[in-house]
Amino acid sequence: MKKPLHILGLVLGMLLLAVAGFAALIKERGSPTQQAPTAVRPSTPKRVLQGEKIVALMCVHCHQNPSTKTLSGRPMPDLGTDLGNLHSANITKHPQFGIGQWTDQQVVTLLRTGAGPDGRPRLGMPRFAYLSDEDAASIVAFLRADNPLTRATAQASQPQKLSPLAKSLMTTALKPIPPVKHLADAPPASKPVALGRYLVIARYQCYFCHSKSINTNNESNPELSKGYLGGGDKLLDDDLQVRISRNITMDPNTGLGKWSEEQFSKAVKFGMAPSGILHGPMPKFSTLTDEEVHALWAYLKTVPKIKNATPEDGVVPNK
Ligand code: HEC
Ligand code: HEC
Repeated sequence: MKKPLHILGLVLGMLLLAVAGFAALIKERGSPTQQAPTAVRPSTPKRVLQGEKIVALMCVHCHQNPSTKTLSGRPMPDLGTDLGNLHSANITKHPQFGIGQWTDQQVVTLLRTGAGPDGRPRLGMPRFAYLSDEDAASIVAFLRADNPLTRATAQASQPQKLSPLAKSLMTTALKPIPPVKHLADAPPASKPVALGRYLVIARYQCYFCHSKSINTNNESNPELSKGYLGGGDKLLDDDLQVRISRNITMDPNTGLGKWSEEQFSKAVKFGMAPSGILHGPMPKFSTLTDEEVHALWAYLKTVPKIKNATPEDGVVPNK
């Protein structure tokens, strides 16, 4: 009950994923699903600012060390123990202990595929497969910039203590995902549905927590994830309490179908939902622009509705 990952589910999920991935590969044969790496765009003040926003929302929670206050990594009991005792890594500018000597391209490859420069899959972080070139460059620009979070910190990343299961799946189900064809830039706000889709599957990873289970997510093709955006995954908050992600499709009774855009905005930005205060690991996306919130809402209206009640609907789901 305490764990977000259930071993059998994990194995089955990963096998299914592998089969589905293979099928997709065959289906897509001949079409350009893979993209050769392009040079990472250079740092500009605008990119540093955008990178700061994305890192604050998407990376700090997992990478900030409580003692150093920098992004020097921490133990991650909130990821459960099925894969072992995981730690996040030192991603400060330190040349030896951090990522100071990684090339920009190596950082971007890690974000998109999960593979480090040594080829070892980094477990425990979502893969940002569809990250645009612009957002990727912005994240790198911020990680290289002078900031209290990125200050070179002489603290070695803790080695992962992988479980036998994780070790056995390392070269199969848990191996890095191949690069996919991604956008150069996020869609403009004048195309809210396209922008919202990008935010959900790429920049803010809403699908990763809000689908049926992180064990059955399809990181190479997020919209094919089981129970896409229908909620019901058991996640852990900072106090290791189970929090069940919620249905954010437009089903009128179990999802957001009866919400107003204003209610949605308050829930996403400030954690204030009609049913009460939202807990972690739901981030407070407080720095989202009105255009981004509107885009999320516009896109969610186009997503197939799923009927799936979660505890705030007065139901404890079986799983
Ligand atoms: C859910 C938690 C989580 C989130 C969110 C997350 N990470 Fe990680 N990250 C990890 C863990 C755990 C590792 C260590 C994996 C390993 O060493 O096997 C890691 C490893 C890394 C590494 C490799 C460092 C090394 O020395 O091997 C980089 C770079 C990185 N993360 C950057 C980021 C960035 C940038 C973001 C935000 C865009 C991010 N991570 C979001 C958990 C997370
Ligand atoms: C790291 C996991 C995670 C991510 C990423 C995430 N959420 Fe959540 N979200 C949750 C959890 C868990 C809850 C339930 C919290 C609780 O029980 O208090 C939740 C609750 C919500 C709710 C309240 C729904 C209701 O019925 O009350 C909304 C709306 C929501 N999330 C939207 C989003 C959107 C939009 C994004 C992306 C911009 C997103 N979430 C990203 C985990 C996540």
